[in-house]
Amino acid sequence: MELKSPDETGLFEALYSTRALRRFKPDPVPDEVLFQVIDAAIRAPAGSNQQVWHFLVVRDEAKRKAIGEAYWQTWTSYGKQYVDDPSAIDRLPRQMRLVVRSTDHLARHIAEVPVHLFVCGPAQAAGTIYPAVQNALLACRGLGLGSVVTAFHRGHDATLKPLLGVPDDVTLHALLPIGYPEDKIGPVGRRPVKKHASLDTYGEPWPFAESQPDEGWHERWVHE
Ligand SMILES: Cc1cc2nc3c(=O)[nH]c(=O)nc-3n(C[C@H](O)[C@H](O)[C@H](O)COP(=O)(O)O)c2cc1C
Repeated sequence: MELKSPDETGLFEALYSTRALRRFKPDPVPDEVLFQVIDAAIRAPAGSNQQVWHFLVVRDEAKRKAIGEAYWQTWTSYGKQYVDDPSAIDRLPRQMRLVVRSTDHLARHIAEVPVHLFVCGPAQAAGTIYPAVQNALLACRGLGLGSVVTAFHRGHDATLKPLLGVPDDVTLHALLPIGYPEDKIGPVGRRPVKKHASLDTYGEPWPFAESQPDEGWHERWVHE
């Protein structure tokens, strides 16, 4: 999919092509571009409109390196089998292979990604934080940036909070590494609606969804 300027990217085109991007060019992200991402993120809905989110932009190289070390530590346990034996990635089925390979790549290189954006808030405010996270991802898509929701920093508060000056009552919910992507944008592949939806009673099939093709709905809205 060819990258378009923001005003040419339709809403549905963005929805169907904003996928996890984990390989980045070293090119810097200008402040005005980053500001636009955050200004769009805070348009998200918020419980009682409390807007309890806080966006911590980390550009400092030494801090990104420390964040990268924490992130890598998580991957060495969560993805241990692939860290111990990288050739195990090659033996995975295609879809999984692509995800694990890019996850491993990001874990090795996250310190080099020009911006680490932490979306922070009270511990119990995930329901408010995540709409803002998704808005940020869509804004990145519109601006030609790439990103991915990450959580491998979780569990490293003892290192990261003092490093970043984060108060005790603030949670680092999501870490979005942001940069200009190396990988192609979209499409987003998912299991079909019929696998995820029911009618009237949980688990009961929704006949309309059952009758729909698994792919192709987005073509109604996306015109290349
Ligand atoms: C709550 C949450 C936590 C995630 N944590 C990580 C992470 O730590 N590292 C990572 O590489 N991807 C992470 N992801 C990204 C998912 O792997 C990705 O969204 C999913 O595989 C779908 O990718 P796609 O949109 O490219 O199909 C996370 C996503 C969510 C929503």
